Amino acid sequence: MNPNTILTMNAQKPNFSAEEVLNVLKYRYATKKFDPNAKISKETFDAILEAARLAPTSMGFEPWKMIVLQDAELRQKIKPFAWGAQNPLDNASHFIVFIANKKNDVTFGSAYLDHVLKEIHQIPDKVYEFFREAYTNFSTKDFNTMESERAAFDWSAKQAYIVMANMMTAAAFFGVDSCAIEGFQPKELDRILGAEEKLYDTEHYSAAVTLALGYRNETPHRDKTRRPLTESVIWK
Ligand SMILES: Cc1cc2nc3c(=O)[nH]c(=O)nc-3n(C[C@H](O)[C@H](O)[C@H](O)COP(=O)(O)O)c2cc1C
Repeated sequence: MNPNTILTMNAQKPNFSAEEVLNVLKYRYATKKFDPNAKISKETFDAILEAARLAPTSMGFEPWKMIVLQDAELRQKIKPFAWGAQNPLDNASHFIVFIANKKNDVTFGSAYLDHVLKEIHQIPDKVYEFFREAYTNFSTKDFNTMESERAAFDWSAKQAYIVMANMMTAAAFFGVDSCAIEGFQPKELDRILGAEEKLYDTEHYSAAVTLALGYRNETPHRDKTRRPLTESVIWK
């Protein structure tokens, strides 16, 4: 059997009430202050990581990685360049930097995409040729993500955001708090975590978004406000 297989065909049909599910989603809020003494257990964090792995990505290409930044010194090193993460970098149980693949990696035939298609998914040659045609059309015509370095990276980053959302939702189910954070300077994180610390190769990856996870050290300061569905949903 393919060692990368996750048994999902026989997964049990969930049976949560709308109230239960929506309560979890209401419990999640953008946590500003984390409790420095409250750490996520290994068991719970492993499950949150598995939620990341189970997230869908376009074409199943998974053009992302994450750095789980637990090193206190390194957290302080990026703090001047992460204005939106000041409290989380000091206090959050876990702090994650998502990095996303650049254009060279998400170009069909790259070593990265070949690895995913041939080694991870172990697709037959016929399917590989299907992907060549479908993805080339998608990436050079329909969505034209090959238009620029930026368009290709942003497409990869979109996939990382889906992964992040899966993690935040899973975390809320465990009563774990979170905050997605775009308040940082990607170039500086690439310099520190990529070029200096060599946690990733900046020829292939760039910082996309960050995520703090832990437990709240505050009560949420306000109830949520959202546009009504009449404003955001078009029915026809
Ligand atoms: C991609 C993304 C980036 C965000 N960046 C920040 C940030 O840098 N700092 C911050 O305090 N909150 C950040 N937030 C939190 C949002 O402000 C928050 O989710 C939104 O106001 C809705 O509030 P709620 O999450 O409490 O429901 C971010 C949220 C998302 C999804």
